[in-house]
Amino acid sequence: MKFRSIVLGCGGYLPERVVGNAELAERLDTTDEWIVQRTGIRQRHVARPGELTSDLAVRAAENALEAAGRRAADIDLVVVATATPDNTFPATAAKVQARLGVPSGVPAFDVQAVCTGFVYALACADNFLRCGQAKRALVIGAETFSRILDWEDRGTCVLFGDGAGAMVIEAVPSDAISYEEDARERGILSTHLHADGKHYNLLYVDGGPSTTGSSGFLRMEGKEVFRHAVARLAEVVDEALAAHGMKASDIDWLVPHQANRRIIDGMGRKLGLAADRVVITIDRHANTSAASVPLALAEAAADGRIKPGQLVLLEAMGGGLTWGAALIRW
Ligand code: ACO
Repeated sequence: MKFRSIVLGCGGYLPERVVGNAELAERLDTTDEWIVQRTGIRQRHVARPGELTSDLAVRAAENALEAAGRRAADIDLVVVATATPDNTFPATAAKVQARLGVPSGVPAFDVQAVCTGFVYALACADNFLRCGQAKRALVIGAETFSRILDWEDRGTCVLFGDGAGAMVIEAVPSDAISYEEDARERGILSTHLHADGKHYNLLYVDGGPSTTGSSGFLRMEGKEVFRHAVARLAEVVDEALAAHGMKASDIDWLVPHQANRRIIDGMGRKLGLAADRVVITIDRHANTSAASVPLALAEAAADGRIKPGQLVLLEAMGGGLTWGAALIRW
C-alpha cells in the first residue's frame, strides 16, 4: 500500500524572558537601528538558567499534540532537530520521548542540520511514514542557541534566540495514481535536501567533543553565508516547484527560515508573493535555528492564516552548509 503524510497539528514554545535590542546595546557596541535595518530583528527569547532544549521541546510537542487532537500514546516516532542538545549524547529525542509519555520502544533520535534541521527531520519522518515504518510522528525543532553564543561578538550574538516548534504528522493511504493528482491531495508533497561540506567553515561552532572537548561558540562569515543563502534557497525553491510542475503563483504561503529579513524579502520578491503571504517571526523571535520554521508554522496555523487545502512552501539554509525545502498541501 502507498502512504503519504498529512499534517495534523503544530505547536510552539518560547522561553518567557525577552531580550530587546536596546538591552544588548547597553553592553555591546551596537544599536537597535543597526540590528533592525540589517536583520529585521527587534527582540529574541532567551531560556532561563537551567531551562534546557528538552524543556522547550516538550512544551512545543505538548502544544502540537493538543492542536493535532492526539495523545503522546498515539506517537510511534520522535525526531528532534537540534544543534544544541542537552548533552552530547543520548539524543535529546530520547529524553523528550520519556518526558512526554510516548510509549517505550518507539524510535527516538536527533537530526543535526543546524538551521535546516527541521526540514531534514521532516523529510526523515515523512519517509518513515511513506514506507509504512511508522504511522504517526512527532517532529520537533528545538534550540538554546543562547548557550553557544559568544556574547562579546556583536556580529553574531544579536542574531539568535531560543525556542521550539513541533509538528504531528500521520500516514494516510494514498490513492493518487498521477503526480498531478498527488499534488492536489493533502499532505507533504515532497522534500528536497542538500548539503555542501566545502563550506563547513563559513558557519560553525569552534568546539565539540572530538576537537576541544567543550561545546564552543558559534562563528560565522555573515556576508558569505548571506550570499550562499540567497543563491541556494532560490535553487531549492525552483527545484521543489518543478518537481510538481507548479509555478510560484500556486503557493499560498511561504514559511521561510528566519535568519535575516532581507533574505526573506528577497525570496518573497523572487516568487512574486505579496508580503502578507510570507510568514514573518524574525522581528520577535530572531533566528531560532531548527525551531524557526515550525515556530512560524505554529503561529500561522493557530491564528488561521494557513487554511486546509492551501499550498505551503518551507525553506531553510544553515551551517554545513545545508539547505532544503518542503512543499505541503495543508
Ligand atoms: N552592530 C553594529 N555593527 C555591527 C554589528 C552589530 N551587531 N555586527 C556587525 N557590525 C558591523 C561590522 O563590524 C561591519 O563593520 P565594518 O564595515 O566597520 O567592518 C559592518 O557592521 C557590516 O558588517 P557585515 O557583516 O558586512 O554586515 P552585513 O550587512 O553582511 O550583515 C549579517 C551581517 C546580519 C550577519 C548578515 O550577513 C546575515 O544575515 N548573514 C546571513 C546569516 C544567515 O543566513 N545564517 C544562516 C543560518 S544560521 C545557522 O545555520 C546557525
